Amino acid sequence: MERNEIGHQFLAKLGKKRLRPGGKKATDWLVQSANFSEQTLVLEVACNMCTTSIELAERFNCQIKGIDLDPGALKKAQKNIEAAQLSHLIEVKQANAMKLPFEDNQFDIVINEAMLTMLSHSAKEKAIKEYYRVLKPGGQLLTHDVSYLDSNLTSIIEELKTTINVNVAPLQVDDWRAIFKKVGFSKVESIHGEMSLMSPKGMIKDEGLFNTLKIVKNGLKAENRKQFKNMNHFFNKTGKDLKYIAVRSTK
Ligand SMILES: C[S@@+](CC[C@H](N)C(=O)[O-])C[C@H]1O[C@@H](n2cnc3c(N)ncnc32)[C@H](O)[C@@H]1O
Repeated sequence: MERNEIGHQFLAKLGKKRLRPGGKKATDWLVQSANFSEQTLVLEVACNMCTTSIELAERFNCQIKGIDLDPGALKKAQKNIEAAQLSHLIEVKQANAMKLPFEDNQFDIVINEAMLTMLSHSAKEKAIKEYYRVLKPGGQLLTHDVSYLDSNLTSIIEELKTTINVNVAPLQVDDWRAIFKKVGFSKVESIHGEMSLMSPKGMIKDEGLFNTLKIVKNGLKAENRKQFKNMNHFFNKTGKDLKYIAVRSTK
């Protein structure tokens, strides 16, 4: 039986570098709303190939630790870090967001994009408690996930799971905000909007025109075409009511 690949692994294989619902727009909002500087110690949870970590290190010259569960993504991350000549600033290792291999009160900023959505409610809380534990008092948590406004989207969320072949549990805007407050975070602020993951405009903004054309060309190869078309259809038509949410919270 033909089996879909995990959505983000499939898109990464096609050449996509940002594997997150709100793309560059949401990431830029998170970054501009936080206090990055050369002195900032950052933890990127679910760093995957380190697209965000590399941009942060290039822009702010800050020290970054990245963790991810996926050894294949971390191998790619290591290659990207070396190609960007940033090994003195970024260090990656395999770890689980729910059991971070770091001391309490260590980081100024924790950034975590497009991962919490994939966890059950109790696992989300467990991971967010870990982020709270490793952040310094006054430290900032930056997250980016899938959300929705209309409570009547159960069948669309079911379709999202089969389209990207991952168990997902997006929350409504107020429920995302509530979970951070429940763990103890304050000053919880958020923005939400249209998902740009696979929209033509979003792809060009996130990946540039040349890379978008390359991704589409790869997606239309015989071995990828069915899944690429399914994902395209879902993100641009059936699943259009799903939103991205970016949240900044303070310990
Ligand atoms: C959709 S991708 C997002 C990657 C990247 N943050 C981005 O925005 O482009 C989700 C990532 O979360 C990682 N992941 C999933 N569960 C995790 C966990 N419990 N701990 C650490 N990483 C996890 C996956 O391996 C994958 O790299």
